[in-house]
Amino acid sequence: MSKELRVGMIGYGFMGRAHSNAYKRLNDFFPVEHRPALKAVAARDATKAQAFARNWGYERVETDWKKVVRADDIDLIDVCAPNHMHKDIVLEAAKAGKMVCCEKPLAMNVDEAQEMVEAVEKAGVPNMVWYNYRRVPAIALAKQIVDEKRIGKPFHYRATYLQDWTIAEDVPQGGAATWRLDIDVAGSGVTGDLLAHSIDSAMWLNGPISRVVARTETFVKQRKHAVTGKLQDVGIDDACMFLAEFANGSMGTFESTRYARGRKNFNTLELNGADGSVYFDLEDPEYLHFFEYTRQAPKTKVESHLTGWRKIHVTNSEHPYMDKYWVPGTCIGYEHTFLNALADFVTGIETGEPTQPDFRNALQTQKVCDAVLLSAKTGLWADTGAE
Ligand SMILES: NC(=O)c1ccc[n+]([C@@H]2O[C@H](COP(=O)([O-])OP(=O)(O)OC[C@H]3O[C@@H](n4cnc5c(N)ncnc54)[C@H](O)[C@@H]3O)[C@@H](O)[C@H]2O)c1
Repeated sequence: MSKELRVGMIGYGFMGRAHSNAYKRLNDFFPVEHRPALKAVAARDATKAQAFARNWGYERVETDWKKVVRADDIDLIDVCAPNHMHKDIVLEAAKAGKMVCCEKPLAMNVDEAQEMVEAVEKAGVPNMVWYNYRRVPAIALAKQIVDEKRIGKPFHYRATYLQDWTIAEDVPQGGAATWRLDIDVAGSGVTGDLLAHSIDSAMWLNGPISRVVARTETFVKQRKHAVTGKLQDVGIDDACMFLAEFANGSMGTFESTRYARGRKNFNTLELNGADGSVYFDLEDPEYLHFFEYTRQAPKTKVESHLTGWRKIHVTNSEHPYMDKYWVPGTCIGYEHTFLNALADFVTGIETGEPTQPDFRNALQTQKVCDAVLLSAKTGLWADTGAE
């Protein structure tokens, strides 16, 4: 028998759309008992929110998010607002006994994230952070390959996350379109926005990051603020590079910027171990590149010309998530990463096995982000405390 999962969405921007699509398609693809019901969306601009609600099928609009969080007809609060609002919404939702799915980064900093973890754990409510790249089938296959011990002793992890949309000096900071450049709303620049994804994927695949040393840069020092109209100092990091030591003894390099001309959402990762390597590039998202040393090692000299990387088209029904979609050889897209995440979350509710990353797990990523920003200030290595 199906059960309703009554959703209250806070924020109706990019992620509001991506998540709404997932709620609407969940039961078309995944055999879960819960059926999402889009009850309410909260946003400051009622007219724009009404248009969003009509388009996606939400029953009502509220301009005060607290009304949605406290409403009796809502089971799940989905936090799709900018970062500075995450904590207050989550604390209120936990108090109201609601399940919470929160966008990344979980919080503005570790102190906030810690408070949020305590709140959802004390309330005993299911919770998840939308680190959706774990749900790209090719990255999930990389995780399977690592878990199958096909990589062997890990030596190197390499991640890049590059964009180019803030190079112009007249891009403002703050306001609805450019809140990511406002330190008071975003908490940080590329570190919390882009590297948080890279760090989450890295720790999922290769275990905790213990220490980091970082360098950040803010190329445009002052920008007009869209709300105040004044030229103000820019507090966010435009670019960040850091070296990492993993608890398993391997080394990592992480690079992120919004100043890589031509790069729109260039998100890559590579893990090199004694027995193999995996490589993924979001611009070629259906593929996982895999080099397997032990299996491909030539038995004779004659076979050595056959060794090399395999480019696996991750579309077979044996591949993660792919049995839920089309026939082998046909692809899925960006939006399905949110659908896969939602399916995992709902499956977690139904089986009682909490889905990862939950808030406690996402707190570990927050610890690394904070350590990166601290190291960039001091110029010294910083312990992360991540587990
Ligand atoms: N998982 C991912 O890959 C991914 C991708 C993009 C964004 N995100 C995260 O999702 C959250 C929302 O990001 P988005 O891209 O959907 O943002 P967006 O700008 O597209 O939408 C933000 C929404 O919040 C509302 N809002 C409330 N207070 C605001 C304020 N002070 N300033 C600006 N807008 C305000 C806006 O009206 C809008 O409805 C952020 O935490 C972001 O980091 C995650």
